[in-house]
Amino acid sequence: MNDLLNRTRAAVWHPCTQMKQLEAAPPLAIARGEGPWLIDPDGRRYLDAISSWWVNLFGHCNPRINAAITDQLGKVEHVMLAGATHEPVVALSERLAALTGLGHAFYGSDGASATEIALKMSAHYWRNSGQAEKNGFISLKNGYHGETVGALSVTDIPLFKDTYAPLLRHSVQVPTPDARLAEPGESAEAYALRCADALEAHLAEHAATTAALIVEPLVQGAVGMAMYHPAYLTRARELCDQYQVHLIADEIAVGFGRTGTLFACEQAGIRPDFICLSKGITGGYLPLSVVLTTNDVYAAFYADATARGFLHSHSYTGNPLACRAALAVLDIFEHDNVIAANRVKAIEFTRLISEVAAHTRVRHFRHLGMIWAFDVVDATPGFSARFHQAALAQGAFIRPIGRTVYVMPPYVTSADEMRGLADAILVCLSNPEI
Ligand SMILES: Cc1ncc(COP(=O)(O)O)c(C=O)c1O
Repeated sequence: MNDLLNRTRAAVWHPCTQMKQLEAAPPLAIARGEGPWLIDPDGRRYLDAISSWWVNLFGHCNPRINAAITDQLGKVEHVMLAGATHEPVVALSERLAALTGLGHAFYGSDGASATEIALKMSAHYWRNSGQAEKNGFISLKNGYHGETVGALSVTDIPLFKDTYAPLLRHSVQVPTPDARLAEPGESAEAYALRCADALEAHLAEHAATTAALIVEPLVQGAVGMAMYHPAYLTRARELCDQYQVHLIADEIAVGFGRTGTLFACEQAGIRPDFICLSKGITGGYLPLSVVLTTNDVYAAFYADATARGFLHSHSYTGNPLACRAALAVLDIFEHDNVIAANRVKAIEFTRLISEVAAHTRVRHFRHLGMIWAFDVVDATPGFSARFHQAALAQGAFIRPIGRTVYVMPPYVTSADEMRGLADAILVCLSNPEI
């Protein structure tokens, strides 16, 4: 195992990592996965409490997803999607259209490529509609939409963004409806509507130069699982209609049941103009992202002139193996009635983690669907790394974001496993050194 760690340090440049810190805290070497468990080469087991960066839904090495990919491997592993098509990508597009009410699916690979596609498509729509000056973007304060240059332009996390500021395009951030920021005595809903007023004030002045508002519906994940009331989205939809600005729902992290509904937008009763999906779409198996949009947007590109078309591409767009994994995921949702089952499970999990919620170091305990999060009041610099290491010693793979600890386990996690996770968190919280 030490050999593997030395080799990874020498040859692999790990994501979102100051490599020097790996000297003190080496990455976890994983040899196998089994349900919600990650297993190291010595057989030690760690509960994947954050679903491997929020991608895993139905456990590692899920037999049904394995079977779908294996079956596809015997047919065709990949064919380019420009000038060719195949059953998995067509079937997936049809099913996603039926689920979202958005009839046209454009594929990418990772989440950030979906953000890029949605931003470009929105601006290009306005250009094709004779309003090329509508090319600005609005996003929420503390929002996160990925790390590529366009996606980072609408992201608002200084640690990721500031270094690259000279490379980025200007965008505007409006107040976040993060319920933690409500005034004492103000409800989450009232605060959300107050933030929507600020959005309206901006749109009233700048709609003519704005292509789209991009939001993470209900949960701003990367800033630390900031949760907000759906009234914000309902009002944002009305305002975007009123001011003729697209609404892009970045459901890359929250889609596929994380917030308790298949898509978070459902809880606000809205349909966005674009929805970006990735992460859970393949159950955490293969990189795949997709942007779904309306007939209206699609029609604005449909013309004789080549340049009016959306001339964007990635080599692995619509990869058949990834699409088969995604179809298997949708089958599991349907056959196992996952959304309803998770609703019951979430009630039990919330009870199991209630001792954590009541801990004296915990503030703003929050829960939505299959996400639980809280802030640690007395966290000092280095808290996240210390907590991570302490949790590993308890057999839990958890990576706090700053002072926010969250769990977002695979949906196949059992009550006993969740109880173990809660116990592990309690051990860490009870250690004054962490
Ligand atoms: C809301 C949101 N958008 C976009 C992304 C970027 O996805 P990827 O890391 O696959 O590029 C993420 C990743 O965490 C995300 O949470």
